[in-house]
Amino acid sequence: MKPYVICHMLGSVDGRIKQDIWGFKDHHKYFEETAEKIEADAWLVGRVTMQEFSSKQRYELEPPQEDIPKEDFVANQPVKSFAVVIDPSGKCFWDSNMVSTEHVIEVLTEKVPNSYLKHLRSKNVSYIFGGKEELNLELVLNKLYDLFNIRTVRIDGGGQVNGSFLKAGLIDEFSLVLAPVADGTIGSPTVFEAEEGYGSRKATQFKIKSVNQIYEDFLWIRYEVVKDSNQER
Ligand SMILES: NC(=O)c1ccc[n+]([C@@H]2O[C@H](COP(=O)([O-])OP(=O)(O)OC[C@H]3O[C@@H](n4cnc5c(N)ncnc54)[C@H](OP(=O)(O)O)[C@@H]3O)[C@@H](O)[C@H]2O)c1
Repeated sequence: MKPYVICHMLGSVDGRIKQDIWGFKDHHKYFEETAEKIEADAWLVGRVTMQEFSSKQRYELEPPQEDIPKEDFVANQPVKSFAVVIDPSGKCFWDSNMVSTEHVIEVLTEKVPNSYLKHLRSKNVSYIFGGKEELNLELVLNKLYDLFNIRTVRIDGGGQVNGSFLKAGLIDEFSLVLAPVADGTIGSPTVFEAEEGYGSRKATQFKIKSVNQIYEDFLWIRYEVVKDSNQER
């Protein structure tokens, strides 16, 4: 079984997600206040996004005395809500096993060195393996469901992580907070970064669940993913 997956993003009208030039005083609130209204057991982000929340310190990694097997590690800890990071090579460092009120779960591949597992164990951070060299995102979701009892997960970006779950057909709902700005920065990440150029992949289609005008000029649009996008509408 896999959790129900809701992707939540704040985007400009041209689909860009970095808010550097948008000119809002408190840009975090537009994302966070809406995110809080979506019930979920976990939020999940890409390695780049998580580095805004993980340690700013660079830890010196030392090999462990004994070999640490490449097996999933569920830390003994009391928290029931989770912050999950897709970090295939183990680039995030941790001072504790929490981000705010959520327990951290690292999603790794087997190419991470034992010294990185030692770092995670020393901070009591949970970790799961999603593949040998590459991640199987369906397997990742199944493990989150089975090992942590995560029934609904909110994917909070960035564009690459959203794009890879979209491409794998694993998103059930998309929640877009549409900011009243045109960004226009060529090369800046967009809501879904799935692949370069046009291949054989079909675009993912949505059906509207609800639309609300919020903060005067923003729209909060909630979409359901149309699972059979082969049908023309
Ligand atoms: N507006 C919003 O709502 C919002 C929300 C979140 C983030 N953001 C912004 O988005 C920007 C970051 O977005 P981003 O697209 O550059 O990065 P991202 O999605 O946060 O992270 C990308 C990284 O995650 C790992 N990753 C993701 N999918 C993977 C997969 N299927 N297999 C293996 N590894 C995978 C890779 O890590 P490695 O490189 O280590 O292999 C990849 O480089 C930041 O500026 C952030 O502030 C905006």
